[in-house]
Amino acid sequence: MNNVFVNTKKQSLLLIFTPHLLIMYRSHTCGELRIAHIGHEVTLAGWMQRSRDLGGMTFVDLRDRYGITQLVLNMEDNSELCEKARKLGREFVIQVAGIVIERSSKNKNIPTGEIEIQVTALTILNAAKLPPFTIEDETDGGDELRMQYRYLDLRRNPVQQKLMLRNKVALETRVYLNSKDFLDVETPFLIKSTPEGARDFVVPSRMNEGQFYALPQSPQTFKQLLMVSGFDRYYQIVKCFRDEDLRADRQPEFTQIDCEMAFVEQDDILNTFEGLIKHLFKTVRGVEFTESFPRMDYAEAMARYGSDKPDIRFGMEFVDLNDVAKGKGFVIFDSAEAVIAINAEDCVEYTRKQIDELTEWVKRPQIGAKGLIYVRCNADGTYKSSVDKFYSQEDLAQWAEKANAKPGDLLLVLSGDLEKTRKQMNELRLHMGNELGLRNPNVFKPLWVLDFPLLEWDEESGRYHAMHHPFTSPKPEDMHLIQTDPGKVRANAYDLAMNGVELGGGSIRIHDRDLQSRMFDLLGFTKEEAQEQFGFLMSAFEYGAPPHGGLAFGLDRLVATMGGSESIRDYIAFPKNNSGRDTMIDAPSPLNEAQLKELGINIL
Ligand code: AMO
Repeated sequence: MNNVFVNTKKQSLLLIFTPHLLIMYRSHTCGELRIAHIGHEVTLAGWMQRSRDLGGMTFVDLRDRYGITQLVLNMEDNSELCEKARKLGREFVIQVAGIVIERSSKNKNIPTGEIEIQVTALTILNAAKLPPFTIEDETDGGDELRMQYRYLDLRRNPVQQKLMLRNKVALETRVYLNSKDFLDVETPFLIKSTPEGARDFVVPSRMNEGQFYALPQSPQTFKQLLMVSGFDRYYQIVKCFRDEDLRADRQPEFTQIDCEMAFVEQDDILNTFEGLIKHLFKTVRGVEFTESFPRMDYAEAMARYGSDKPDIRFGMEFVDLNDVAKGKGFVIFDSAEAVIAINAEDCVEYTRKQIDELTEWVKRPQIGAKGLIYVRCNADGTYKSSVDKFYSQEDLAQWAEKANAKPGDLLLVLSGDLEKTRKQMNELRLHMGNELGLRNPNVFKPLWVLDFPLLEWDEESGRYHAMHHPFTSPKPEDMHLIQTDPGKVRANAYDLAMNGVELGGGSIRIHDRDLQSRMFDLLGFTKEEAQEQFGFLMSAFEYGAPPHGGLAFGLDRLVATMGGSESIRDYIAFPKNNSGRDTMIDAPSPLNEAQLKELGINIL
């Protein structure tokens, strides 16, 4: 193919020749032309977004990925062309040639708003059926319809912007990590099923009838093996698959920025990836973090916010009222393990109805609180609570003092089992944060959460699970508790939270075969099970494994947070709905008899 520059009267055009065909669909994009182009002859191609007929004139908005350019056709100048333009339907793909002219009424809202194209030729490249919803920034299409016709939804500028943001983040991630000697290495998708973490998606093997691969929940063991192989600094922007219940920030297939480093301690990792996040915010969003990210240990995060990913854009921290609220005859508090308050500042004006609504909100099964107690800190210095029968003004003054509440504030109090009450109060705090407009999506507050527990007790199976994963190392200073009080052992594990979202997490790994084997014992694996499932990793540790650690960011969550959204779906080109379905391609779907037979699968 030869590319040739041709000088026309007004401009240079890049013409692309193939042996038999001359292609020049467009000289410019629909987002490119400005006042400086006036008088230029141009060719544009794109989708007909909308048209308007005004007297003898027809105006057409022509759209492509880069923007919208207004076309104008005049009945007097060329009635045939004008008639043709009037017959264009929404989303027709067209090509026009014309001259750039200055608009008489300018549109300040779009970059091309000072010009329009006086059309001299128009070709319909492809007609279009009427789309099922309007393809404009504001659409009338509901969620389901837009998912079913995702390729049409993806034509909309706000959706395209989100994918462009994602592209920039991925690009700048590569720039930063490459500059730090990280090597992009691919790892397999067809791997071995293991029982830890979420459920696996499995894939039957035709060549090994009755046997299954699993899709990786993350490349965890492979990246550790790469450290054993001496790669030293690895990264991959990689799909991960988890069969778990879906939420706004969870998809069954999602993308991680997965990283691992050898010969490092926790601080090396935190500093390296804090650097990555700073680089991304600066280059992609123009937001500069000048200070180091704050760090908080897990126990403190739970006590102050009831969450391991606290949103620290606003205060409303937990206040422990145990010592001032108990012993006054109010049985609910007296019998509770924890009485916790938050101070909703300047909310004394909350009406009875609003407080009733909050009470109903915390009593919903998803939250599960039994009730909500309030204390109004009146402007005149008196207090009014829903438990006035049990507490004097002096008692309530003590609560207010503990909560740093001033006249005009409203205390909200929950009580019960410590862990549950913290969870419920976390939800209420976030809800109040939303109601009071304290969660500004354009403010970004990162927080490293450190020293997670190594294990968590699982009531259902009656055994411990690794809180992060089984390859995470315990803190050496807690090792003495590993037999006597394993639940108290802390891990060399860390998460990066931002705005109430867990953006990423990782740990310093075990690199010693014996310790890894003890860890599997602790997690209830028999020697045989451990050998069968993770023998490859333990064997690798016998051949000179370097100390290593790493972390993975959820790319979808990172991009959504940078875009100011809590839902990751819009930042994924083809996401699944809440039932894990892709309604556009209609997956999952049954296999036919022949396929099942070939795989040796019988559906009961
Ligand atoms: P973890 O399980 O914490 O760690 O996952 C890392 C990050 O991935 C994102 N994430 C998800 N995003 C969208 N949908 C999901 N279903 C989903 N699940 C997780 C989160 C999370 O913080 N191998 C370890 C990392 C390591 O130890 O290096 C791992 O996968 O943002």
